Amino acid sequence: MKKKILVTGGTGYIGSHTSVELIEEGFDVVIIDNLYNSEAGVVDKIQNITGVKPVLEVFDLCDKGKVDTFFNKHTDISAVIHFAAYKAVGESVNKPLDYYRNNLMSLVNLLDAMQHNGIHDFVFSSSCTVYGQPDKLPVTEDAPLQPATSPYGNTKQVGETIIRDTTVSDKNVKAISLRYFNPIGAHPSSLIGEFPKGVPENLVPFITQTAYGLRDELKIFGNDYDTPDGSCIRDYLHVVDLAKAHVVAVKRLIEGRNLKNYEVFNLGTGNGVSVLDAIKSFERVSGIKIKYRIVGRRPGDIEKIWADPSFANKELGWKTLSSLDEAMKTAWDWEKKIREKKKDA
Ligand code: UD1
Repeated sequence: MKKKILVTGGTGYIGSHTSVELIEEGFDVVIIDNLYNSEAGVVDKIQNITGVKPVLEVFDLCDKGKVDTFFNKHTDISAVIHFAAYKAVGESVNKPLDYYRNNLMSLVNLLDAMQHNGIHDFVFSSSCTVYGQPDKLPVTEDAPLQPATSPYGNTKQVGETIIRDTTVSDKNVKAISLRYFNPIGAHPSSLIGEFPKGVPENLVPFITQTAYGLRDELKIFGNDYDTPDGSCIRDYLHVVDLAKAHVVAVKRLIEGRNLKNYEVFNLGTGNGVSVLDAIKSFERVSGIKIKYRIVGRRPGDIEKIWADPSFANKELGWKTLSSLDEAMKTAWDWEKKIREKKKDA
């Protein structure tokens, strides 16, 4: 019998890539999504890639009644991977209550319903944002967490705490928080990828939109940081590599190979890449020069952070396989594909 995994936010950027990898590894996938930042048609794209169309239930996880109804209907779920959340750092500063309500209420409703329905295995979408600016680089999972610099970041810290406390209070519950560094790129089929609403906040979609001519220029937020070229440093990983880590994590829980009831893993490449290096990588793979301008620092930006992924390498048996250039190439292929489709429409 195939195991069934509930993927919340499964039509979103990382959720859709993870749904593909789960199906390709022989799992059944059922998705809950409110389509706030994604489209129902993503399940057809998942079907185009895998041959299997996941079940999609469209509702908001903040609606406790609907969450309970869902679990009454789907009684054979083995584990949950929880992506559904708001994720725009800047927006979270302007709409903190929306972020706390959406990201935390959905988490509480989900954990509550899981407990009531005897579902114990839970994988959570966390972020390297919980580290703030670490004192030591590369950063390991035991680094002290810094006060969050945005309500979004705070929802990830509080989210992790809620999950940890749940595993302490109920020894049956097993959970893994995956702290992502910076996911980029798209599926090699160019059928699924990142689709930011409005002006992108993140670097790579801004680069690809600028290359396509949708934006006049890229603004680089600061060149006076204490880094070799003065721009900020991040750890960019291919979204398909990231998606595969979720499959490994969920299998670890289902098969009971976890060391503790609550575990945390960094998911990154281990390489720090500056904003200027990221642009160079894009230019190499696309053959297009990016028009950019240096502007002031973006409030809340971390100067430099990259992962020590050795715990995930050793314990999950997972590591990133794609290079930065390969990831950039898929981001560019995806951008071209979605724009061409829009022209045809
Ligand atoms: C941020 C969050 C991260 C979150 C992610 C999701 C923090 C510290 N990090 O990542 O937790 O998961 O958003 O959206 O809160 N840049 C430019 N010009 C641009 C855009 C970005 O120079 O137009 C630079 C930024 O200054 C940064 C780098 O590119 O140095 C990456 O930025 P971005 O893609 O927004 O990701 P983070 O801020 O690292």
